[in-house]
Amino acid sequence: MRVAIVGATGAVGHELMQVLEKSSLKIDELQLYASPRSEGKKLPFKGEELTVRVTPEGAIDADVVLASAGGSVSKALAHKWAEGGAVVIDNSSAFRYDADVPLVVPEVNGEAALQHKGIIANPNCTTAIAVVAVAPIHRKYGVKRMIVSTYQATSGAGQKGMDELLAETHKVLHGQEAGNAEFAHPIPFNVIPHIDVFQDNGYTKEEMKVVWETRKIIGDESLQISCTAVRIPTLRTHSEAITLELEKPATPDEIRELLAGAAGVEVRDNPGDKLYPMPLTASGKYDVEVGRIRPSLVFEGGIDLFVAGDQLLKGAALNAVQIAEYLQERGALK
Ligand code: A2P
Repeated sequence: MRVAIVGATGAVGHELMQVLEKSSLKIDELQLYASPRSEGKKLPFKGEELTVRVTPEGAIDADVVLASAGGSVSKALAHKWAEGGAVVIDNSSAFRYDADVPLVVPEVNGEAALQHKGIIANPNCTTAIAVVAVAPIHRKYGVKRMIVSTYQATSGAGQKGMDELLAETHKVLHGQEAGNAEFAHPIPFNVIPHIDVFQDNGYTKEEMKVVWETRKIIGDESLQISCTAVRIPTLRTHSEAITLELEKPATPDEIRELLAGAAGVEVRDNPGDKLYPMPLTASGKYDVEVGRIRPSLVFEGGIDLFVAGDQLLKGAALNAVQIAEYLQERGALK
């Protein structure tokens, strides 16, 4: 099988290569693409040095294209890659809401990937992390309403976002004023309730992505969801406080037991031992940490919980590779 990464030099591209190294996917050839700025750059993969090439304007001679070079590149080129015979697993938001493009988190709706017509969308990172925990609860207890508040890492803005956090924090620690380019305001020692652009309804697009994408992945358009998305000065894991109103009441013990057996979840929930989800423990992990599971004080029989998931892994690269693995395991890829 020939795999191509478009955006190989970016933050998600880097993680894609790490995940592919450990993956069970049988890869005969890995091709790396980025912008002309990176032409000729060498990146290590399985003990070899692979050369980065300029992303072609037309077809890519590969069986799978893992695209993470942003929405405009995907919009312009993904259909051409698909028409050329590749299955495109796209990390951007370009096609997520298209009716004929499956939006997939393998633990939740892997079978949707089998219906693809050349392009499969990888969800928004905040959504991917939330649904791993919420979908099993929805299946057993029926989620009626879901209220999410996020604490999102700078990695959500790519390598440049993480670089800005480090460089601007360094400035502040050396008595200089912090600036901002990737974020709406300086990020060091700050909390910014503004990710992506504001919509007419007063919510940001990031917040609405959680609404639209959770419904599409879980397959329930009646699910009531509200989100406040906030950028915080961490490097790479998104955390989320989630309140769920349920059709059938559940106790925290029942939810703990359910999630302990759920794929992609690590229950980390022993507050007495200071054990709960955090970016410091969730970063680099494949599983999404879930903890602080407690009864809702607002919705009778409802549940409050806290999740932390590596934005670059389950929120992006890992999920994309898991989609490819899902297809290959079912004979739907070379
Ligand atoms: P490059 O490093 O050559 O700019 P991140 O999300 O971390 O910012 O990474 C974005 C990725 O997308 C990088 O690999 C970047 O390559 C790539 N990229 C950006 N613009 C283009 C483009 N017009 N064509 C192809 N790749 C692009």
